[in-house]
Amino acid sequence: MLSRGAALWLCLVLLLTEAAGEDARQTWWDRAAVPMAKKVGKGLKERVRAVTDLSKKYWDYFSCQVWSEHCDGKKDASKSLGWISPLLSQQYMDILSSWYCKFKDCCDRDDCRIINNITGLEIDLSTRLHGQHLVQEVVLKSIRGFLSMPQPEKPLVLSFNGWSGTGKNFVTRMLADQLYRDGLESECVQVFISMLHFPHLKYVDVYKEKLMEQVSDTVQRCGQALFVFDEAEKLPPNLLETLKPILDHYDTIKEVDYRRAIFIFLSNFGGNTINEVVLSWLKAGRSREEITMEDLEPHIQEILKSTDSNFGHNRLVKENLIDFFVPFLPLEYHHVKLCARDAFMSRDLEYTEEMLDKVAKMMMYVPKEEKLFSAQGCKSISQRINFFLP
Ligand SMILES: *[C@@H]1O[C@H](CO)[C@@H](O)[C@H](O)[C@H]1NC(C)=O
Repeated sequence: MLSRGAALWLCLVLLLTEAAGEDARQTWWDRAAVPMAKKVGKGLKERVRAVTDLSKKYWDYFSCQVWSEHCDGKKDASKSLGWISPLLSQQYMDILSSWYCKFKDCCDRDDCRIINNITGLEIDLSTRLHGQHLVQEVVLKSIRGFLSMPQPEKPLVLSFNGWSGTGKNFVTRMLADQLYRDGLESECVQVFISMLHFPHLKYVDVYKEKLMEQVSDTVQRCGQALFVFDEAEKLPPNLLETLKPILDHYDTIKEVDYRRAIFIFLSNFGGNTINEVVLSWLKAGRSREEITMEDLEPHIQEILKSTDSNFGHNRLVKENLIDFFVPFLPLEYHHVKLCARDAFMSRDLEYTEEMLDKVAKMMMYVPKEEKLFSAQGCKSISQRINFFLP
């Protein structure tokens, strides 16, 4: 049986680990201030160390049991716990670890913050996303390929281009939901919004430093991290310079390995070009599903490279650091109807074909003569269906 002394230590350690759990739930700038080493908080480690030397040894022993990678160089930790370890037999350690793992991030010694449900992603992309056959194909292939590599050479860098409302944020959310247990809320996922996080051009040097720090901390906390830059066309010039070494082929930078990270840049840039290609395609009497990446990609690359500015992620484009362009095509009337149908269904509401038509007719269509594409895609469809509620 567990002696009273051992039971006390157990409680102490559990209390300390509980307290540390809260660190992981802070907001993102706060988190930057508490860099975490691997999965265990530095703050926590220090607190544990501060208690007594014995509790440190206990912690080493415990963390080694829970996370095998923490055992490096601590192999003798259990030996020095001579008097205590017989009391904490493997059986107790197992009970303790499984209890602890209910709150923390370990399942069978894997990282259960990461779920990488490719099947789920495939289903989502093919059923919930409308009018984007190229997105379905490129996102699925690139993500599946990247995640199946045991040791990628460099992080995966995707550029989502297209008009607003075409599904860039929607697909980003899908990805987060299918790769991470907590979706966009995951501590492995960081979303940067240009006008919110980097609003003032004059502070670009500060932003650079913060960004690098943030990216580095997240990757140390979570190897397979996801970084999303929304409104990427508005990023201050040269801000991303700071990420260049990471996005390029480097093994490690200051001993941090970034190669399993995923970067996604969302921007409206190139949207007009994509729309022109689709328009001329439709006018020629061909179906949009026939459009291939080969038809579109050169146009997008060209337009992105031809601009002089270093605004946004243009520089990454020019230096060929983007692995895949993901073109979001403009949505047509029948796609908007499908979005409306999904919105009704997701709220368990009854709908008729007539209602779907009414919602779709609320949107504005461009260009002036053809009126083919919804100017706002499927944006705010779910708010629009409120008109039909009793
Ligand atoms: C993956 O996603 C699919 C569809 O959402 C779901 O049915 C399945 O249970 C998920 N698999 C895992 C392992 O979570």
